[in-house]
Amino acid sequence: MAETERLRLGVNIDHVATVRNARGGDTPDPLRAARLAEEAGADGITAHLREDRRHISDADIEGLMATLNVPLNFEMAATDEMQAIALRHRPHAVCIVPERREERTTEGGLEVAREENRLAHFIAPLAEAGCRVSIFIAADRRQIEAAHRIGAQVVELHTGAYCDAHAEGRFQERDDELERLREMATFGHSLGLEVHAGHGLTYETVPPVAAFPEVRELNIGHFLVGEAIFRGLTPAIAEMRRLMDAARG
Ligand code: PXP
Repeated sequence: MAETERLRLGVNIDHVATVRNARGGDTPDPLRAARLAEEAGADGITAHLREDRRHISDADIEGLMATLNVPLNFEMAATDEMQAIALRHRPHAVCIVPERREERTTEGGLEVAREENRLAHFIAPLAEAGCRVSIFIAADRRQIEAAHRIGAQVVELHTGAYCDAHAEGRFQERDDELERLREMATFGHSLGLEVHAGHGLTYETVPPVAAFPEVRELNIGHFLVGEAIFRGLTPAIAEMRRLMDAARG
């Protein structure tokens, strides 16, 4: 498969840290998970340093920057604190996500259209520092246009609504969401944006998204960490990689 067509897999290790933090000790170690993920075929590692540090810690980010052989995709809210941390570490990529303390996970995409000026100023120094800037948004034309206007290089389309509809057996809605994702992947690509996707993806939901030719990267975490309990992290990731490649082929 030509390198330009290969779909990259970013493995999100946040929930290894969630399990570690449940007991407040050192295990399981997210850095060890990152190393295994690399060996299993991950093209990058994603970690979200939340304002409340509920999973990934500042020390994890330092450790990842020091030891990873593949690129780090640093997920962050658009706050001054996170911008300063990103500028200190200069990871390969930053992904700007909305963050609300009370949410269990990143529930929606960023409202770029509503905050265009602030976000344009927020991402400029990150791009100048050499970070590839990605914006996590709903599959919505207005948001994609706004992300393009503020100078983002990448949009990551939120696949949560599609995955939730599948899990809850709302199949018409699932198919509608999938169609929306497909159209918006094409639209984003037509503007010159690199298109990524992620959130809630599983072995069942990944194939149709992996098949979109405009999508260059998937970021997947929670399902893989859960599946690792049953089959081990390396086989869990290898199976995801296999399904992605099969859908692509
Ligand atoms: N992409 C982004 C931007 C995310 O915020 C998350 C969740 O942290 C993911 C991908 C991965 O989602 P999941 O853990 O549900 O696979």
